[in-house]
Amino acid sequence: MIRAQNLEDFIKSVDFLKSQAIENCASEDCAMAIKNIDNFLAALGYEREVGDIEKQKNGGEVPRKIGEDKYSTLGNEESIWFKLSVLLNTENPMKILARLSEKYGGCVPVNLKSDKVFFLSEPQHFRHVLINNEQKYIKYFEGLKPIFGNSMITIDGELWQKIRKPQQPAFHPNMYADYIPHFHSAVETRINVWNNLSSTGQTVDLLEETWALAAEMVAKALFDRDVPFNPHVVFNAVKSYTDVQNHKSIRLRQVSGSLEEIGEEPPAKAIDAWLELPPIIFGAEPRNHRTNTLLTMMQRAEEDDSVPEFDRQQTIDEMKQYLWAGTETTALTTAWAIYMMTINPEMKEKVRAEAKKVFDNNSPPNSEQIRQLAYTKSVIQETLRFYPPIWSLIRTAQETDHINGHRIRPGDKVVLSTYVSHHNPKYWKNPEEFEPDRFESQEAIRAQVKYSYLPFGLGKRSCIGGAMAILESTLALAELLHHFEPEYVGTKPAVPEATVTLVPKDGLPFRFHKR
Ligand code: HEM
Repeated sequence: MIRAQNLEDFIKSVDFLKSQAIENCASEDCAMAIKNIDNFLAALGYEREVGDIEKQKNGGEVPRKIGEDKYSTLGNEESIWFKLSVLLNTENPMKILARLSEKYGGCVPVNLKSDKVFFLSEPQHFRHVLINNEQKYIKYFEGLKPIFGNSMITIDGELWQKIRKPQQPAFHPNMYADYIPHFHSAVETRINVWNNLSSTGQTVDLLEETWALAAEMVAKALFDRDVPFNPHVVFNAVKSYTDVQNHKSIRLRQVSGSLEEIGEEPPAKAIDAWLELPPIIFGAEPRNHRTNTLLTMMQRAEEDDSVPEFDRQQTIDEMKQYLWAGTETTALTTAWAIYMMTINPEMKEKVRAEAKKVFDNNSPPNSEQIRQLAYTKSVIQETLRFYPPIWSLIRTAQETDHINGHRIRPGDKVVLSTYVSHHNPKYWKNPEEFEPDRFESQEAIRAQVKYSYLPFGLGKRSCIGGAMAILESTLALAELLHHFEPEYVGTKPAVPEATVTLVPKDGLPFRFHKR
């Protein structure tokens, strides 16, 4: 049994196994790479599918049916997220992925029990899977369906188009001017909360604060509702769900009963809290009775006979999706950006200088003022490069495909790691340095290698709310730093952890001081 203590051990082990395997392997690099990685993972405790490798060596197909995966409700050990967790729990999983990716030309094949997974990290692979051959792949959402229901983020094909179309106008840039007062109102709530926190000197987790902020922004701007729930409680419950470490306990609870009876542990209870939420928000009194919000657009779709699939349950599921996809990600971006400002004081002062110019007249912010927060926006864009909340996109192949000389068979999974591309020295000078200047001018942005920066995905399934997220986070960062001096009180520098999203491993303990 080989145990890798660190990255060097890992690479040494792979090299050692490679030398051992050479004589049994086919001459193609492809087969060799598969064997090496399989061997190494086997050493870590994974089962190796010898027959599979033999067939691959001989150029034979191992048929695998689409949809063979069991529908996994709560976290399931069959889920790719669960299986990847063993790899991701190593000392520095992102560095390991980056090194492997460099060694194997950006396409690393791995056998995970019954699944063949290909880690892809080169811009041309992103384009290959997400644009040029997008019809060969479908979204992978097993294990996360309770969070998202049957919302559009999880579905493919014609149905996806039908469901997305009525919602699309809510994300047209023309709508942003309408949303800004509601985003600002959510920031004001946070300013009041932080004023109280600063007078008591209490330490809080910054991420919980930005979660609450992002949830309020979505509920107010897109649904015209106040937030009639405690985001702190609900999002912590959901977080325990998206952390694959909890999947085993959740699953074990599930086999002993129905969803409602799965036990008292926080991860197991998360789903109940989550499922209650959208109907509560839906049923709450509208704040301003606006007639052109995302929610009213969905309600109109419910009445449209040409889209019978869009019923009340669909609206509720879409709300679930926005309350996670539109809040967890924005919350992480704002939190990581504030953290980066506390360790880069000159950058923080540049953000403040911009904010002072824009906010000192005390008038509520508008689109033009937010446009003037150019440096602050580049801090947000660099945060999204440095700590992309969605560090990987997963797809399941529906048809045979070929990438980098590897045959991808129906049922195989591809994990597109944007994190690795965002940190690849081939595409970024000093990738481990946090440098907002990379996004300060249009020339600098144009000079970036196409598809090397994909915080919002690519192609027709890319994020519907990307531009809106940048606007929200830019406004929040500028206003909060204008009013407060946030103090990071963690004992060690924050490090990212690859759960379903890229989260700070031990949270972000902060205290706030009024300026
Ligand atoms: C910084 C914040 C955000 C990040 C990093 C982010 C990232 C992403 C990424 C990478 C995808 C594509 C996933 C894939 O291809 O598998 C995606 C999809 C999506 N995002 Fe975002 N997102 C953010 C904010 C938002 C916001 C604010 C909303 C809405 C309020 C939103 C709603 C969605 C939806 C609905 C989809 C699915 C689109 C579809 O499948 O048609 N996201 N997001």
